This record gives sequence, C-alpha cells and structure tokens, in this order.
Amino acid sequence: MTVSIAHLSDPHISHGLLAPAPAAGLHAALGRVLTLDPRPDCVVITGDLVDQGRPEEYRALRELIERFPMPMHLLTGNHDDREGLLAEFGGSPFMGGSGAAYYSVDYSSFTVIALDSKMQGSPAGQLGGQQLAWLDTVLARRPQTPAIVCLHHPPIDVGIPFLDGMRLSDGEDLAGVLVRHSNVARVLAGHVHRPIAATFAGTTLAIAPSTHLQSRLALEGTVPNYVSEPSAFLLHLLAGSVWVTHTVSISHAAAPIATF
Ligand SMILES: [Fe+2]
Repeated sequence: MTVSIAHLSDPHISHGLLAPAPAAGLHAALGRVLTLDPRPDCVVITGDLVDQGRPEEYRALRELIERFPMPMHLLTGNHDDREGLLAEFGGSPFMGGSGAAYYSVDYSSFTVIALDSKMQGSPAGQLGGQQLAWLDTVLARRPQTPAIVCLHHPPIDVGIPFLDGMRLSDGEDLAGVLVRHSNVARVLAGHVHRPIAATFAGTTLAIAPSTHLQSRLALEGTVPNYVSEPSAFLLHLLAGSVWVTHTVSISHAAAPIATF
C-alpha cells in the first residue's frame, strides 16, 4: 500500500478584483492532485491560506475546497487570521475536528501534526512553550508511526535575507523537541514561495512552493519580489521503507488537470 501526502502552500486566496488568479491557482493545484494515481491519502496546505485574513476570504476558500473529495488539513500562516480561520473551519475535518489552530490527525500508517506558528502583529512566526510541549506529547503517543510535522514558517534560515528576517523565532526549541523522537518523517513548511529542502533536527525539512506566485531567488537584499515562475506542490511518498519527496508541476504540467 502506498502512503503519500500532497503538500500545497501559500494559496493567498483573495476577494474582490484580485480574487481570480489565486483561486485559479489553488483550484488547478487540487485538480492536479486528483489526477495522481493512486490518489494521495490527504492534502496539507501549509498556511497563508488567504491574503488579508478577512472573513470573506475564508468564505471564498470554503467555497473553493468544500467539494474537494479528499481529506484536507489547513494551517495558519502570517497572512491568516487565527480567529477568522477558526470561525469558518474550526471543529471541521479541515482542522482535524479541533477548535484550536493546532491539532493532529491519526491515519493508520502516519500522523499529521499541524502546528500554528502565527504570531500576532508580526510576519515572523513562533510556536511557544505550550504548543511545543503539546507536540512532544503527540509525537510520543504513536512512537512507531511516521509523523509529518507541519507548520508555515521555516525553522531555519534558507539563504534569502528577506524571508530569513521573518522565519520561525523559536526554531531551535522546535529542533529540541523533534530530536527526542525517531518517528518524524518530514517537517513541512511554506512561507518562502519556493521549493527548498534541508536537513533539520535529524529529519528532512521540505518547503513547498506557492500555488499562486513564487518569490524571486533573492540571495541578497531585503526587497521582496514575487514572480510568475511555475507553480507546483510537493508529494511526500513512502517508497518501501524510505520517505521521498517529489515536486509536481501545476502551471506547466504535461498531465491533465481534473475538475471537482
Ligand atoms: Fe505566503
């Protein structure tokens, strides 16, 4: 039996005049997921679900995803509003049935752990001691089962100064928790709008590109630029006994894109 997780990020769903492009991007990404054979076990979207954190944007997101025929798990990003997200999706399967913005979902062969790195009033991220203690407990609960730990903000520098200036502020504390557990198969993140892989805390950190706009590979300077590079998502796949990560093109895909 194949185990796989589709990892999408940063759809930045909007409302009004600017709404069509990001909505089309997310819709195409989800349509591309549906063409995978076999279909992944679930979809995870690692934050910046909407652009301005407005209630009408979360309603537009719901309209877009509510008929999607697969389990989907949503996370906060710095562009999100925690209360707005929970008002629309709290307690639903999109949030693991939880009324909080961090939660875990048990699958028979893996665990999805969704963290909430939103820091009020800042584009940077933070988990905090309470959430890290919760993570420690959840990881210990099924020690033989691979855990996929998801959050929006990368916990390390990625070599892009503009984004490194707003990474996860307590990444070292997160690493301190993760190294105590041997079942962490992947740490999934977003925020950078580029595909990036790195070693982190004895596991692999995989950052997914955006389903909307990518960021320029700005290795110097602190000015953000968002560019029309190809959009994609990541597919984390248990191949035999090893987790591997594939990049799946969306905008330049040579495969059909399904509708739903
Ligand atoms: Fe973003």
